[in-house]
Amino acid sequence: MVFGAILAGGSGTRMHISNMPKQFLPLDEKPIIIHTLEKLLMCTKIDVIYIGVNPAWLGYMSDLLEKYELDFEDKIKLVLGGKNRNDTIFNIINDIEKTYGESEDNIIVTHDAVRPFVTLRILDENIENAITYGACDTVVPAVDTIVVSQDAQQIDSIPDRSMMYQGQTPQTFKINILKELYSQLKPSEKNILTDACKICVMKGAPVKLVKGNSSNIKITTISDYKIAQFLVGGNVVELEENDR
Ligand code: CTP
Repeated sequence: MVFGAILAGGSGTRMHISNMPKQFLPLDEKPIIIHTLEKLLMCTKIDVIYIGVNPAWLGYMSDLLEKYELDFEDKIKLVLGGKNRNDTIFNIINDIEKTYGESEDNIIVTHDAVRPFVTLRILDENIENAITYGACDTVVPAVDTIVVSQDAQQIDSIPDRSMMYQGQTPQTFKINILKELYSQLKPSEKNILTDACKICVMKGAPVKLVKGNSSNIKITTISDYKIAQFLVGGNVVELEENDR
């Protein structure tokens, strides 16, 4: 089976607002998370969609599903988010295995709740590549030069930009591979992980790249939120980008 996993366990501290986590902010007529959920619902390859919700907002999320008439119990399931992003992913995996059992064929499509502009093409290619390679990450070529500095004062190095990419989501995995690799990490290694693909990279497992889209932005700051409002409200023509 293919499981969507919308990661909505965070509280959006970099947004510097206090009334609600950023995934619940309105975008046009609906909350950001409803836009994201509707994108995953359009993907017919996904059998069940999990949402890992910030525990204080579980009731609110459940009310949203009812309000937007998306409370299909066999298709959309809510679980508690964890203390970090990977914990949210593993809370979802635990519920998947408890409910549907373990299978080598189970795939999890992990996606940030705050990336409402993911496309069907990106979702489909993620699933196809995870089936073939076991793991894949959605990326776009870095447009800015990447500068490395360990002390935030001076440049240590400037890597060749042609080899630099920016990671987006979805990140998609065979569940058994991700679980096995994660179980091999030491607690100190688990603590520094901010990214699920890094679990594979740290253990030397292959991660295929899937071409993302520069519109597939993550709403992290107020200025991202303004851009997102422009993208839904303005008369934006969607063009598929060429390869680099
Ligand atoms: N996320 C999650 N569980 C956590 C932390 C984050 O599911 N414990 C989710 C967020 O809800 C978000 C996605 O991971 O959809 C990307 O993370 P980020 O943009 O860092 O979200 P926040 O942690 O909410 O933001 P911040 O770092 O600014 O606090």
